Amino acid sequence: MTNLQTLDEKARTVLRQNDKGHYTVPTHGLYPYQWNWDSAFAAVGFANYDIDRAWVELESLFAGQWDDGMVPHILFHQEDPGYFPGPDVWQGRGPIPSSGISQPPVAATLARRVFDKNPDVGRERLSPLYDRMVAWHRWFMDWRLDDGAVCIDHPWESGRDNAPDWDRGMGSIDPVGVGEYTRRDTTHVNSDMRPTRYDYDRYIWLVQRGARLGWQQSEIVKDIPFRVADPTMTFTLLRANRDLLALGALLGRDTSEIAGWIEILEAGAQSLWNPQRQHYDGRDVLSGSWADSLSNASFLCWYAGLDSEPMRRALREVLANVTYGIPSLDSRDTRFDGKRYWRGPVWGMMNMLAGLGMSEMGLPEGEVLRRSTAKLISEHGFAEYFDPRDGAPAGGQSFTWTAAVWLGWASPSAEAN
Ligand code: DGY
Repeated sequence: MTNLQTLDEKARTVLRQNDKGHYTVPTHGLYPYQWNWDSAFAAVGFANYDIDRAWVELESLFAGQWDDGMVPHILFHQEDPGYFPGPDVWQGRGPIPSSGISQPPVAATLARRVFDKNPDVGRERLSPLYDRMVAWHRWFMDWRLDDGAVCIDHPWESGRDNAPDWDRGMGSIDPVGVGEYTRRDTTHVNSDMRPTRYDYDRYIWLVQRGARLGWQQSEIVKDIPFRVADPTMTFTLLRANRDLLALGALLGRDTSEIAGWIEILEAGAQSLWNPQRQHYDGRDVLSGSWADSLSNASFLCWYAGLDSEPMRRALREVLANVTYGIPSLDSRDTRFDGKRYWRGPVWGMMNMLAGLGMSEMGLPEGEVLRRSTAKLISEHGFAEYFDPRDGAPAGGQSFTWTAAVWLGWASPSAEAN
């Protein structure tokens, strides 16, 4: 067996170890439940060798959808005392105990990749999920738009928990009454690699507030304490709508509503353009200020189908300053911290999304990124994220989405499939 075959086998072992039968945990200990976008990547990994299991993953995710269309960011299929905040704190109101916020909608896009692996099976399995996906995207369009860009109401909703994009909004929250609580994440992972106590107080305060309001969006929007227009959300939803439209056409559905959303989001994405810094950026809706943050989410523009010369230039500069790209924050930024979660580390799954978009739009950096991700994983393993300067693994180990990114994109065998 060559080294690369061995890595394919190791990646499958990671998926098998994290497989709970009908859903996959991101990694044991740190994240013991089903996470929304992790799960969509897991499906892509499974699709490489078990198409049925790939669809089961997506079906389990959408089984947790709420009446209003929201698909939660965590589904608590079974209690686990090793995680905080659990179902008792969140008080979700869906068919499966859950959190009360969503996560970047990559599922339709990644379901399309699963579909393409076997269109006959795909047609049958996608059909019941399709309406659920439309309802979820409609929820974002109904409740999360500002000037056509998609906003988050909690940093966890973006998936980029402690990115500098939220600093301004988090700073205006006074987490009064948050009470005593015990973090569990830092019992699994070194605290240097995780959000700070300051961040956590505000995360929990926002959860407590949402739970008090029964996660009713009509109540939540009356007096919003935190709202940021987010490149992750905007670009992933724009892209997901393009894929959902294509899937809808294959199923013979009326896709005119989705076509309308694409127009709104294409225009809305431009409201994330920071004119001083000449790149896509987070925009704090309540204060109107820019994050001034050139992040890996900024570089999802091509994934969303949006090309521009200033972004190409920014990409070249950012990649030139690290060994392994794309860092979650430009390494020249004074806020850069190479090990702390979304303030510097490189993430394989963000590389995959960004790299796919670049390759589709003819940028050579897409292939550069694929090779750099393959090197990173083959030298440093299936970690949650990595230091972009030397590739040192960080966060959780034996991570589902890193294994899935290997199997579905970075591995040389992925090209052949
Ligand atoms: C966590 O617990 O750190 C998660 O990112 C929340 O989704």
